[in-house]
Amino acid sequence: METIQYNIKERTSKVVLPESLGFGKIFTDHMFEMDYNEKNGWHNPSIRPVEDLWMHPATMFIHYGQAVFEGLKAFKQKSGDIVLFRADKHFERLNNSSRRVCIPEIDVDFAIEALKELINIDKNWIPTKHGDSLYIRPFIYGSDPFLGVKPAKEYKFIILLSPVGAYYPEGFKPVKILVTDEYVRAVRKGLGECKTPANYAASLLAGQEAVKRGFTQVLWLDGVEQKYIEEVGTMNIFINLKDEIVTPKLNGSILPGITRRSVIEILKEWKMNIVERDITINELVDTYEKGNLVSVFGTGTAAIISSVGWLTFKNKQMILNDGKPGELDVKLFNEITSIHYGLKKDKHNWIIPVEQKEIVNL
Ligand SMILES: Cc1ncc(COP(=O)(O)O)c(C=O)c1O
Repeated sequence: METIQYNIKERTSKVVLPESLGFGKIFTDHMFEMDYNEKNGWHNPSIRPVEDLWMHPATMFIHYGQAVFEGLKAFKQKSGDIVLFRADKHFERLNNSSRRVCIPEIDVDFAIEALKELINIDKNWIPTKHGDSLYIRPFIYGSDPFLGVKPAKEYKFIILLSPVGAYYPEGFKPVKILVTDEYVRAVRKGLGECKTPANYAASLLAGQEAVKRGFTQVLWLDGVEQKYIEEVGTMNIFINLKDEIVTPKLNGSILPGITRRSVIEILKEWKMNIVERDITINELVDTYEKGNLVSVFGTGTAAIISSVGWLTFKNKQMILNDGKPGELDVKLFNEITSIHYGLKKDKHNWIIPVEQKEIVNL
């Protein structure tokens, strides 16, 4: 692989972050960029100032959605160390997504090294408050101008960085969820297990209608029978029953979440009965009626754990744990965030340190 070219902005003032960062609104000074064409493969890696992208109106991904992306985080720990959480797994998933939509794969080790370089250059943008973090958005899109439906010949791989605030600035707050049987997010053998824009476009209307009815998000059922539970919003789902903790098994239409994977590993370490199996919405309702439903929570990089306090399916309204976060939900949230911020030993080797170097002009 070629060496990275640098075009570093000269900063004349210190980075001052607002008190409340929100999500995805603020971007750091620099981005990583790399090009692909058939002759040279992936080439031209560079770190340069963030600026608008120039593109021809016929750029292929705008028309046919041939793109993939990831979402992961870096944290500044109390010691001052900067760490990435399971970046290897995120770039491996990016490659899995790419394969499904005919995008050429990237070299995972090179991508991690490039990301570390970029973070080092923009390290003053990483918030230090507990709960805040640096959100990382790698993405690849078909970049040549052509209006025929076929895989693009040229691609761009970009990594953007965005300082983000804690998901629960006012404390862990359960969400209100509507089970939708009117819309589906994805189908087996389709794109569901792939992090590609089409899945998110498919989810917007259901989410918007749920919000209009006073809900936070929707719970997705399977795309064929609308019977089996799949995901909640843009999170994987865990259903904590009296004698087992169930998460739907990966079936091709569910995104294999990295947080899902971490939660399963932690629950196994805690010797809890975690089972990956199909579970229908009717089983969930039955269990609730029998008083055997302890809690339901979503898992994802943004929120880590999100408790479901209220769940509505057709005319059935369920209040879970009196609308309060479940004990296990909070315990898992604390466990994972403690690993992020270096408050607990990382027994699983999930943390990837970013070696810090002095950068001139920062
Ligand atoms: C559809 C969907 N499901 C699940 C997840 C959770 O995945 P992860 O834990 O890797 O963030 C995400 C977020 O990336 C998502 O977009």
